[in-house]
Amino acid sequence: MAKTPKYTLKKRPRGRPRKEKPAAKEKKEYSTDAVRYLKYKMAPDVWVEENYDITLDSWQKEALNTQSNRLLLNCSRQAGKSTVVSLLALHHALFTPKALVLVVSHTDIQAKETFKKIADSFHDLKTEWYKSEVDTVYEIRFNNKSRIIARTGQQPDSLRGYSGVTLLIIDEAASVLEESYMVLKPMLAVSKGKVVLLSTPKGKRGFFYDAYKDAHENNRESWHYLEIKADDCPRITQEYLLSEKERNPDWVFEQEYYCVFISNVSNIFPNVADLFIEMPLDDHWSFDLDLD
Ligand SMILES: Nc1ncnc2c1ncn2[C@@H]1O[C@H](COP(=O)(O)OP(=O)(O)OP(=O)(O)O)[C@@H](O)[C@H]1O
Ligand SMILES: [Mg+2]
Repeated sequence: MAKTPKYTLKKRPRGRPRKEKPAAKEKKEYSTDAVRYLKYKMAPDVWVEENYDITLDSWQKEALNTQSNRLLLNCSRQAGKSTVVSLLALHHALFTPKALVLVVSHTDIQAKETFKKIADSFHDLKTEWYKSEVDTVYEIRFNNKSRIIARTGQQPDSLRGYSGVTLLIIDEAASVLEESYMVLKPMLAVSKGKVVLLSTPKGKRGFFYDAYKDAHENNRESWHYLEIKADDCPRITQEYLLSEKERNPDWVFEQEYYCVFISNVSNIFPNVADLFIEMPLDDHWSFDLDLD
């Protein structure tokens, strides 16, 4: 027996027009400039490589692109840390309107030097988007209302008074005064800004070492930690390292090129532990130290 169909096909009456398909949504056109701007904002490493004649090391890309609010760079001498944070400072200022970037270095000369790097990078950029309105040896103010300011970390009082810091960079942080860090740190509390500490180690002391301990030994997630030894830097040759090894005490070599925090007393008396081991137990010994 033939099954009754569950549906019937109605014939469309002749002459009745087919239903018009709704017109495809008009595609929004973005200008190539806007696309480029977004791309550069989201990918600082791409911005650098498309605008400068530089091939970034992979750790430099990571340092530029991290979303973390706390970046800690423990690097060999000459690894390229000041270069990458100068570019980070400039990128932040250009792509975050009304940003306040404070770059602190351990001496005034270093502050000027780091600032020159940033200023030169800006002037090399020949950007059609931004112009500088104020341009001095310590400060650039851009037409998007962002500012980059450089200061020495040797005068804590000269650091007071800035609020709304969105990016705080401390170069050679192991040499910057503890007191300066105490002045600077609260500036990020309200703005929820980002802090970048970069240095070659200088003993087991100070806020740079504390941050290292937090990131490394205490296994806290709070810092994005990058450790760049001389071997990781393609611009430092093995020949150069060998000559430095011959010329310096081991602890200096390890500190300067292999990111090692050396305890301070062993810097002064490298063999002090051996002295104590060889001391006879039944005698009384006294030491007179003349450090002059
Ligand atoms: N990706 C790179 N490609 C080519 N040259 C680079 C790169 N990164 C840094 N440099 C160059 O390497 C040299 C050292 O860089 P930089 O001054 O940033 O290192 P640093 O780690 O801050 O050194 P220091 O320990 O002396 O402070 C500079 O001449 C810089 O231009
Ligand atoms: Mg440097």
